[in-house]
Amino acid sequence: VARRPIIAIDGPAGSGKSTTAAAVARALGYTHFDSGAVYRAVALVALGSLGPPETWAGAAVAGAAGRAPVAVHAGGGRFVVLVGGAPPGDALRSDAVTQEVSRVAAMAEVRDFVNGLLRSAAVDGGVVMDGRDIGTVVFPDAEVKVFLVADPEERARRRLRERGRTSDSDAIAMEAGALQARDRRDSTRAVAPLVQATGAVLIDTTALAFEEQVRQVIALARAATFGVP
Ligand code: CDP
Repeated sequence: VARRPIIAIDGPAGSGKSTTAAAVARALGYTHFDSGAVYRAVALVALGSLGPPETWAGAAVAGAAGRAPVAVHAGGGRFVVLVGGAPPGDALRSDAVTQEVSRVAAMAEVRDFVNGLLRSAAVDGGVVMDGRDIGTVVFPDAEVKVFLVADPEERARRRLRERGRTSDSDAIAMEAGALQARDRRDSTRAVAPLVQATGAVLIDTTALAFEEQVRQVIALARAATFGVP
């Protein structure tokens, strides 16, 4: 039996991937997987169980993640990442995790570990997955591939608003700098760098209303999977 479709949404930090993917999944009755949350869970485990980040080796980080264990669970259209059997909650979005996540995401052993979790969770399809390498590496045969981008200042504004922080021009400049530093690390790494996949549709959300970007992705999904229930 063929699997249901997979929609891959990739792009830089703060481009609106997760919120868009969640809305698209809701509209289509698919399950939304936030692959970044899994990398964040691995970083959280490393911070709690290994020494200073500069000393982390890929095998040690992947080993710690496997022992924790970092796992994913999908049920009833919802996706959760678990650490030691419990959802880590707000800790995934802490500044410490955000600062170190690109370091662990650049490690081949960590990527193999996470890819295994993501692929087995999505074997039946019917999934909207967002990340950096979903259309290039994790599901290169995804029916729909989208590459979401937006100007750094706009992404910074959204990020600050999301966290309920003030967004004066200094705060925006600092946040934009942090987002761009992470993009640089994600785009220049040797393994699975952030890049627009062959066949991915580029959507610039800088001046788009949220409903409009959701509508565009749903339209792509309907066009690509016409006739598939
Ligand atoms: O939500 P935000 O845009 O801040 O990032 P995220 O989606 O939570 O991803 C956090 C980090 O995980 C990224 O900066 C990447 O380093 C890494 N990541 C990755 O390497 N590959 C993925 N498929 C997803 C995330």
